[in-house]
Amino acid sequence: MIHKKSAEILAALGIESRTSGACTGEWLESSGEILTSLDPATGAPLAEVRGCAPADCNVVVEAARARFAEWRMRPAPERGRAVQRLGELLREHKHALGALISLEMGKIRSEGLGEVQEMIDVCDFAVGLSRQLYGLTIQSERPRHRLIEQWRPLGPVAVLTAFNFPMAVWAWNAAIAAVCGHPCVWKPSPTTPLCAIAVQRICNQVMQEHAAPGLFNLCAGGADVGRWMSDEPRFPLVSFTGSIPVGREVAARVAGRLGRSLLELGGNNGIVVLDDANLELAVRAIAFGAVGTAGQRCTSTRRVFAQRGIARQLSERLVRAYATVSIGDPLADGVLMGPLASRAAVGAYVSAVGRAVEQGGELLCGGAPLERPGFFVQPTIVRAPAHERFPLAFEETFAPILYVFEVDDLDEALAAHNAVPQGLSSAIFTESLRSAEKFLSALGSDCGIANVNAGTSGAEIGGAFGGEKDTGGGRESGSDAWKAYMRRQTCTINWGDDLPLAQGVEFL
Ligand code: UN1
Repeated sequence: MIHKKSAEILAALGIESRTSGACTGEWLESSGEILTSLDPATGAPLAEVRGCAPADCNVVVEAARARFAEWRMRPAPERGRAVQRLGELLREHKHALGALISLEMGKIRSEGLGEVQEMIDVCDFAVGLSRQLYGLTIQSERPRHRLIEQWRPLGPVAVLTAFNFPMAVWAWNAAIAAVCGHPCVWKPSPTTPLCAIAVQRICNQVMQEHAAPGLFNLCAGGADVGRWMSDEPRFPLVSFTGSIPVGREVAARVAGRLGRSLLELGGNNGIVVLDDANLELAVRAIAFGAVGTAGQRCTSTRRVFAQRGIARQLSERLVRAYATVSIGDPLADGVLMGPLASRAAVGAYVSAVGRAVEQGGELLCGGAPLERPGFFVQPTIVRAPAHERFPLAFEETFAPILYVFEVDDLDEALAAHNAVPQGLSSAIFTESLRSAEKFLSALGSDCGIANVNAGTSGAEIGGAFGGEKDTGGGRESGSDAWKAYMRRQTCTINWGDDLPLAQGVEFL
């Protein structure tokens, strides 16, 4: 039984209780498995989406291919106008879309709205980019020759996204891909299909107004659809956001056909807090990083390295801050932490807390699920033993569990910080220029994101987003991340009457 508030949120976006998960601008009759969307705050079903069988996937990819043949020839600024329209419609529906994210995924209202804002921001960024996509002019070694480097579209892009950012990660990929000249086919997480349906309905309007069916396509489904897309040579690029084990499989499949993959996998993000830090800032950043989105961002703070002089005080202040976090309905005013996204996530939380204690951790607060319907847990702080004697610190548990380690100095913090397999986001809190610069130097953090006096999560879209090592090496959204979506072409133009060969080679 869905309650009144859920029904209103779904109705505001035109989502019915049974929907197809296949769309190319037109909704198709899909015939794959049924995905049931649950409200994580109650555990009750919200609606059913029928996923794609291989035949449906085929229809969708063909629609994308047909659009690519035409779309790549539209001037990039014209492609940008379609993305501009997408941004306008997202602005118009921001409130409803944000509420749907909270309803289906469980993040609080302000973070749901923030996620929609990320989509709007990346659309704005992509519109500007549509008048750039700059190449280089390179000095030729030959007389009357010119060398240039230009960027051309690749072909349809498969975009596989995770539950925790059920709309924004798609937008980082789709908005950039569209201005670069590519249609995309989206496989959302099977736990958040309604977010995808709502965005697709908006895309349908954009495609209609810009005579571009097949530009933004939906292909919902489970792991079988993901495998099909990874193996499918009609996708020259597969962008995957999700867990490290699944990312490894996607990467191997795509590499097996010599395709290109863009991976944004797990993080295990640490914050170093030195004795000279502004603790007020550090406490707020750690609390947002570890408790925000109930610890389910890939940028969530999981490890704190506190220098011995402030370690006790920092832990005490964190415990006091955690005590003020109200947990509950993510759409209710004042609530700072909603539920985890699924029952399985609660199981992973319970298991990690149990292992933390077994491995010598001391629970400073939290540690248990809440006795109420839905998938709620307490935000948890563990005082951990030395990093190398605490195997749990090497794993990413997608839950609000924070491990606090005591360290003697920055060098010890850095060694432990960089010892994990993941390399997404990192931060240091210090008032020392020297320590901050060391953290950002080649001796410092080995992550794709490294911040000073700002936490690990909540990156702006203007930067390239992603990380190293097991995080997968991909970069999405801002800066020159667009280059991953295009093929680079080096062109030599001879405007003389002779044919000089490079390197002075003589022939004929
Ligand atoms: C993710 O968790 O997959 O930096 C993305 C952040 C957000 C994106 C997180 N802008 O926390």
